[in-house]
Amino acid sequence: MTQDEMKRLAAIAALDYLEGGIVGVGTGSTVNHFIDQLAAVKDRIEGAVSSSEASTARMQQHGIRVLDLNDAGELSIYVDGADESNHRLELIKGGGGALTREKIVAAASRKFVCIADGSKLVEVLGKFPLPVEVIPMARSYVARELTKLGGDPVWREGFVTDNGNLILDVQGLEITDPRGLEQTINNLAGVVTVGIFALRPADVLILGTPGGAKTITAA
Ligand code: 5RP
Repeated sequence: MTQDEMKRLAAIAALDYLEGGIVGVGTGSTVNHFIDQLAAVKDRIEGAVSSSEASTARMQQHGIRVLDLNDAGELSIYVDGADESNHRLELIKGGGGALTREKIVAAASRKFVCIADGSKLVEVLGKFPLPVEVIPMARSYVARELTKLGGDPVWREGFVTDNGNLILDVQGLEITDPRGLEQTINNLAGVVTVGIFALRPADVLILGTPGGAKTITAA
């Protein structure tokens, strides 16, 4: 079974968590499968809040109503992918560069359902380079501070986020204290968001595997 087929399995399983109302929708190839599935049941929901221009475009192509978060109130469910998850469902996200809006929509949702293929489950976060969204003028300063924290930041050149900012991908971190590091990096001047989702982890992780979709719930 291919990685993409495993992503699709996880996306299909996430439909079981829909409660009607307004759904928060993340970004990425796994979420694209979810959006395609959501199209078939769009009459069961009021609409969706999107975490990126890319997901907005895909949903609108399917005729799914997309609302501004400011008009939606608290969301019952947020469905998004991840680059890594540990067993506490603390995540690294932002491989697609949508981490800031993803973190906002996750924060505004009662339940965060994370969908991924089985390769994303790890013992310790950090093998995947940690994305950090920065205000453009702060890029070099933040990179020096991230180096002091033991990382090796690499500017994702040519990429601009939906918010007009830049991404540093930090290699070489072994993230044994995800909550602490999330706070430390978020407190650097010029950082918009770090791609650690530990202060607000996922509630449910659905992993697509060759043996079917496997669900892990936060302890
Ligand atoms: C985008 C993300 C994605 O959820 C993450 O990169 C996983 O992507 P994919 O589903 O394509 O593996 O955080 O900013």
